[in-house]
Amino acid sequence: MARGYLVAGNWKMNGSSAANAALLEGLVRGVAECPAIDVLVCPPAVYLEAAHRHLAASPIALGAQNLSDQAKPGAFTGEVDAAMLNDVGCSHVLVGHSERRTLYGEDDACVARKFVVAQSGGLIPVLCIGETLAEREADATETVLKRQLDAVISAAGIAAFLNAVIAYEPVWAIGTGRTASTEQAQAAHAFIRGVIAKNDAKIANSVRLLYGGSVKADNAASLFSCEDVDGGLIGGASLKAPEFLAICASAQILAASRDA
Ligand code: PGA
Repeated sequence: MARGYLVAGNWKMNGSSAANAALLEGLVRGVAECPAIDVLVCPPAVYLEAAHRHLAASPIALGAQNLSDQAKPGAFTGEVDAAMLNDVGCSHVLVGHSERRTLYGEDDACVARKFVVAQSGGLIPVLCIGETLAEREADATETVLKRQLDAVISAAGIAAFLNAVIAYEPVWAIGTGRTASTEQAQAAHAFIRGVIAKNDAKIANSVRLLYGGSVKADNAASLFSCEDVDGGLIGGASLKAPEFLAICASAQILAASRDA
């Protein structure tokens, strides 16, 4: 079974009403040239509803960058739950981004809870995992990836990955301009798919694995051409329509050849 490409933009804490409108307008126009891939954008939470309106006539999907780990509404000041994200038009949500893990103290158990409540609330979680530079240099990459994956597999069950996306994002490559080599990316992705395969080979074959970490227009094609890379999670390069669309175009070309 051919896994389709997914190119996702993580806008992080960037944007304004005016800037978002211009960016989305450019994306809606440009994505018409990329019918063979799926595209997702993840604006800051306060702009989701407006983004949903901009995307109404477009195949571009909408995702949030974070959600509450609480399953039911209530007295959780400042939090936004899965049902609310669904209500404003989200289909996806990032879970466990390394900035959430390192800056906001989200541990594996918290990430697993968020993954579970995202799915119960009808959202497709994009589970972000990845090692730090120190962990890579200590030869602990696979141990870290397995620990991060196992926490979610044991909380959600392997079948949950029928309806989830995994993003491999080496922390040392995020926002640094330093990208994993195609060999490093492919090796990590093959390892991740192998961990899933030990639980269920069919699900391993169908789950989409995105690479994230300084993906740009000029390195997207080589990263996306790796056998186990099914697209990208793009930060900085998702904030300008031409750059993001050029990344989408790389996936579109590869999608056409994967299908052939
Ligand atoms: P970057 O961010 O593309 O700016 O490195 C990727 C991410 O954090 O998802």
